[in-house]
Amino acid sequence: MSTIKSFFTSGLIGVVAAVGAQTTYEKDVAPIIQKHCVSCHSPGGYGPFSLQSFNDVLKRAKFIGHVTQTRYMPPWKADPTFSRFANERFLSEAEIGTIQRWIDEGLKRGEAQDEWTLKADSPETVAEEPADLILEMTKPFELSTEGIEDYRFFHVPTGLSQDAYVSKIEFVAGNKRYLHHSRIMVDTSGQTAGIDGLSEFDPASRAFQRQPLMDEFLYGWVPGNLPVRFPEGTAKLIPAGSDLIFNIHYAPSAEAATDLSSVKLYFSDKPTEHLIKSFYIREDDIANGPFLIPANQKPTFYVSKTIQEDMNVVSLLPHMHFLGKKMTALAITPDQQEIPLIRINDWDFNWQSTYLLEEPLFLPKGTVLLLVAEYDNTRDNPLNPVDPPQDVTYGWDSTDEMMNLIFYYY
Ligand code: HEC
Repeated sequence: MSTIKSFFTSGLIGVVAAVGAQTTYEKDVAPIIQKHCVSCHSPGGYGPFSLQSFNDVLKRAKFIGHVTQTRYMPPWKADPTFSRFANERFLSEAEIGTIQRWIDEGLKRGEAQDEWTLKADSPETVAEEPADLILEMTKPFELSTEGIEDYRFFHVPTGLSQDAYVSKIEFVAGNKRYLHHSRIMVDTSGQTAGIDGLSEFDPASRAFQRQPLMDEFLYGWVPGNLPVRFPEGTAKLIPAGSDLIFNIHYAPSAEAATDLSSVKLYFSDKPTEHLIKSFYIREDDIANGPFLIPANQKPTFYVSKTIQEDMNVVSLLPHMHFLGKKMTALAITPDQQEIPLIRINDWDFNWQSTYLLEEPLFLPKGTVLLLVAEYDNTRDNPLNPVDPPQDVTYGWDSTDEMMNLIFYYY
């Protein structure tokens, strides 16, 4: 009798505990989706579908379980066990576990909770301040309806009659549905007007792509990126009379659609004590060059570069194209301190971002920067744009390669 009773009660307690601990959409999952997903996955947002309602999430529950467990979503490429950033966005292990448990326990909806706060992390929720200069593409661009990945250049004159000291930069995607990423460059040659609207693959744009630009990485943007704001008293210079070039990647579209993107520039209202400069690690810095990625090979390139002045680093922008797989950067100070800078374990050309440091990072003159980048120019690489693989070397066309780490510093 006592065994039956104890079996019964312990069983009952087990059931009660299980009911108490049951993972439900309303109680457990919705707050995670609201916080980390709906900023992009809402109607008119960057994501390809909305995740605002229970049914939206239920329909894709398994897929959501997969993309969160593999950390494909939310998109954040820098390994947080290596270094942390001000603009980071990723799920905790506990949050990933909650989604898995919800799936395993049978996708229960549960009782509607008291209002959880809708805490989206999108730039749209950041209080608007008026920009000093908004520069828009000169005309709407009609997207191809052929379902192709499309890489375009747009020439956007600044009309600046005097030098501008920019304290904050924000890119505003005209077409959120199809804009995959963009990069903004500054040209002072006055020779790039002809590039407007050209495809990267258009032979006519080739000549432009061989021309060095004053600033090839004013800003690298992906959907959901927050504006770049430079530390107090610092600003980036955009010279009078310069032109911006937007380099935009559009995702495949089968429907007629247009894009009219713009960039908002905020000028420094305080005297600029320090100009934000760019420091590049480039292909010519490679120790085991030349930068040649032979067909059917997976080479690794190394850079060790000593900085010649004190630097206060404010952001990092890693850059490779489709053959890039992994990039690791660290700094070794003259007193042998090792500072992890950034590590990207699964490079994705489509999710390039400016990584903003929490605080400026001081690196004294004589610090050695180490950069290691791995490439895969075989058929194993599903993103390899060329089949069969061909030898690839430097160029800013997407089928060429690059190996850069760009530091903003003062
Ligand atoms: C910064 C914007 C952004 C955020 C935040 C975001 N997504 Fe996405 N998501 C996208 C975009 C853009 C795509 C389509 C392109 C792609 O797959 O890279 C996508 C694709 C997906 C896909 C389809 C993947 C595929 O292979 O087709 C799923 C599922 C998904 N997201 C779920 C989520 C979930 C769940 C979250 C939150 C945990 C989330 N996303 C957060 C922008 C975002």
